[in-house]
Amino acid sequence: CGIVGYVGNSRAADFLLEGLRRLEYRGYDSAGIAAMDNYDDIHIVKSAGRIAALADQLALEMPIGSTGIGHTRWATHGPATQANAHPHAGPSGEVVVVHNGVIENYAALKTRLQQKGYIFRSDTDTEVIAYMLEDALKQLPIGSCQAPSDEELVALVQTVLAKLQGTYGVGILFRSRPDLIIAARLGSPLVIGVSEDAHYLASDASPLVGYTEKIVYLTDHQIALLKADSLQIAHRDLGEVAHSVEKLEIASGDVELGEFEHYMLKEIFEQPQSLENAMRGRLSLDNATAVFGGLNLSPQELRSVDRILLTACGTSWHAAMVGEYMIEEMARIPVEVEYASELRYRNPPVPQRTLVFGITQSGETADTLAALREMKRKGHPTLAICNVVGSSIAQEADGGIYLHAGPEVGVASTKAFTSQLAIMAMLGLYFGRLNHLSFDQGYRMIQALQALPDAVRQALNTREQAKKVAEKYQAVNNFLYLGRYFNFPVALEGALKLKEISYIHAEGYPAAELKHGPIALVDENTPSVFIMPQGVVYDKVMSNLQEIKARGGPVIAIANEDDHEIEKYADDVIRIPKVEEFLQPIVSVIPLQFIAYHIALLRGCDVDKPRNLAKSVTVE
Ligand code: G6P
Repeated sequence: CGIVGYVGNSRAADFLLEGLRRLEYRGYDSAGIAAMDNYDDIHIVKSAGRIAALADQLALEMPIGSTGIGHTRWATHGPATQANAHPHAGPSGEVVVVHNGVIENYAALKTRLQQKGYIFRSDTDTEVIAYMLEDALKQLPIGSCQAPSDEELVALVQTVLAKLQGTYGVGILFRSRPDLIIAARLGSPLVIGVSEDAHYLASDASPLVGYTEKIVYLTDHQIALLKADSLQIAHRDLGEVAHSVEKLEIASGDVELGEFEHYMLKEIFEQPQSLENAMRGRLSLDNATAVFGGLNLSPQELRSVDRILLTACGTSWHAAMVGEYMIEEMARIPVEVEYASELRYRNPPVPQRTLVFGITQSGETADTLAALREMKRKGHPTLAICNVVGSSIAQEADGGIYLHAGPEVGVASTKAFTSQLAIMAMLGLYFGRLNHLSFDQGYRMIQALQALPDAVRQALNTREQAKKVAEKYQAVNNFLYLGRYFNFPVALEGALKLKEISYIHAEGYPAAELKHGPIALVDENTPSVFIMPQGVVYDKVMSNLQEIKARGGPVIAIANEDDHEIEKYADDVIRIPKVEEFLQPIVSVIPLQFIAYHIALLRGCDVDKPRNLAKSVTVE
């Protein structure tokens, strides 16, 4: 799930190991590196499990050499064993490959190679690429002591890649050319770091921080030839293309833990700041509306939008659900929310003048990318609401809105979620002001948005209360999360956070739906978290709470500071500041993030790297 590469004048393994550590957050279950020097064999070291295990092994057999590639693997084909870990070598070790993505026709390709007499050593689709490259290398018409030229290698890689169906980001070493790495992408991200005497390869920008500030974003069908002092990029159909070197916008503090124990905790505490960043320059009191610079649609086109489709996965899908409620309330435009994995194959009727937004922290989620492509193909404008600058979805969408939340490393999304909600609220304001919202209404919404970072700052004080709740309920096996209206999707998100990092079964439900099924789960060992700030549905949610109490279920209420009714009924109350009702989800989710965090800690779970999960899901 993560690729790194280095070609320069220093020991490659040092950057590779550090780079893999920085990519750990993407999720993985095995790791490895390969490095080479002076036409010797390419030295591969790999191990199942954590990077720490790889580091232990490297301490015993550190490959020297200043050209190398590395990989963290999240198992798709074959279990997470050392044999299946990348890098993968060709049959005689002439070629070594790391690969992200999925090769769909690998079985047929493998059979063909087996018929030629090749014997495979792993269950992976990647090994097939290494074997195909080596097989093609053997066909090159060159003398035995002559190394293949740059042009020959690029052409050879292109020929092999053309036979693959599926997605890939690859980094390739050739034993006969220790001076170079070839990298290529189709549907799986790769970036290249540029410095005076070295080039770096990575699947996102975080490994580059501190090594270089210059970055090149590779796009689909591009193939790059990296040497210490040069970088050439060719496109499958266009031949050699010019590349633009951009400034890396991430600072080293953004990817370091600092005073925090975990990235998730750091990111929870960053939320006042990340919300400010999401809103900076985007609120105009003069016009009482939101301002977005990157939508790339004319005011006429935007004015004529009469339906909005939001598509996403995971936590981003929860943000889309809150977005539906916000935009429909504020702008009176019908909004549909679709799981991207469903939308891509479901073929629903999407009327003309529908604007499609893909919401994605990483900008790499394979399903979201595919759903957006499908909508684009049908002629709808597609926009990205995305955090990672230069990511695949950011590149492919017609326009979009960046979150500017800074790198989110914890697998469980926190600050990206609240920033996505702020963008949703601003979109509601924007489309509302294009339609029926008055200047005065718009103006008051802006004031409410501007007050939000302070409210979230106060909500961070709920940590201690959340910790007590965590201590009390850490041993239960089931949780319910309940809310209504704007806070129903927050219930879904609270339950997802708990599931992701503490491995406790949790269900999020609209509080009133409870009696249609989940109430059967209620007993004295099944706590219910009610998200019930004051507002139009407060009394209704209170009735739902009574239904739980009547059946002996413990209740934890997330309620406003001046709600004195709640303490009569709830076993535990966590107090959050009151904000405008449509913004309350941004505040009410904070204690839920803390509850999940502290329960996971108490249960000894790996908060930032939960089992089986990946931060960036680049396979469908
Ligand atoms: C993975 C992550 C989730 C995330 C989801 C969508 O499952 O573990 O935290 O919400 O993907 O990711 P995206 O980057 O598209 O928001």
